[in-house]
Amino acid sequence: METAEAEAMSEQAASLELHGVSRRFGGLQALSDVSFSVQEGEIFGLIGPNGAGKTTLFNLLSGVTPPTSGMIRWRGKRCHGLSPDALNRLGIARTFQNLRLFGELTVLENVLVALHHQAGAQLEPQALALLEELDLAHLADRRADELAYGNRRRLEIARALATKPTLLLLDEPAAGMNPSEKDQLCDLLAEMRQRHQLTLIVIEHHVPLLMQLCHRMAVLDFGRLIALGSPEQIRTNPRVIEAYLGGAR
Ligand SMILES: Nc1ncnc2c1ncn2[C@@H]1O[C@H](COP(=O)(O)OP(=O)(O)O)[C@@H](O)[C@H]1O
Ligand SMILES: [Mg+2]
Repeated sequence: METAEAEAMSEQAASLELHGVSRRFGGLQALSDVSFSVQEGEIFGLIGPNGAGKTTLFNLLSGVTPPTSGMIRWRGKRCHGLSPDALNRLGIARTFQNLRLFGELTVLENVLVALHHQAGAQLEPQALALLEELDLAHLADRRADELAYGNRRRLEIARALATKPTLLLLDEPAAGMNPSEKDQLCDLLAEMRQRHQLTLIVIEHHVPLLMQLCHRMAVLDFGRLIALGSPEQIRTNPRVIEAYLGGAR
C-alpha cells in the first residue's frame, strides 16, 4: 500500500479506538498503555516478536479477557469489559491462532453452527455461499479434522464471516500455508474486505504478505506499541528493524 493512501486513510474518522490499554497477568505486563486507532474499511497489520502481546490484544478486542485498564471503542460503542457474545453483536469476530473448529463435524456443519443465531430458514444456502467464497464448497461434506491445514484456516475464516462482522480479527491466518496458498489468501482477504465491507486487523509473521496487504501497521514489542505507520514507514523504522525485522528486510 502506498504511503499517500495510508495517510489519507488515517485522516478519516477512527472506527476502532484504543486508549491506554493495558493487560497484566500476575507479575507479567502483557500489554502496556497501548493507544491507536483503526479506520473503517482499513486493513491493519499487527506484528511483533513472539510473546509481544499480539494475541492478548485480540483477546481484549474480542472479549476473551478484559483489559486491566484502558478504553476500547468500536464505531463509538464501548467494548472493554464486554463478553465475546456482546462484542459479536457489535460486529466483532475473530479467528484463533490455534484453530477452534469442530473436528468431528463436517465443513458445512461447522459454518451452520456459526450461523445458528440468525433468524430465517435459509441457513444452508448462506453457509454454502460462504464455503464457495472461501473455495471450500467441494469439501462441504468432509469432516473438518480431515482437511489440510490451509483449508482449516480458511474454514475458520468462513465461520467468523458467518456471524456477519464489521470488524474481523485474524490471528496468523497464513500460518502453516505454503507460498502459493499465502498469495491466494492475500487476494482473498482483499476481496472479502470489499464484498463484506469489512475492517480487518491481521496478525501475521509473514511480513512481506502483510506489507502487500495492509494500509497501515502497528508493531508491538514486550507489550508496548513501538511503531505505527504505512508499510514503508514500518519497513524503514530503525526501532522496528532492531526489535523485529532484523535481517529479514
Ligand atoms: N492467559 C494468560 N495467562 C498468563 N500469561 C499470559 C496469558 N496470555 C498470554 N500470556 C503471556 O502474555 C505474553 C504475550 O502473549 P501473547 O499475547 O500470546 O503474545 P503473541 O501473540 O504476540 O506471541 C506472553 O508472555 C504470554 O506468555
Ligand atoms: Mg499470538
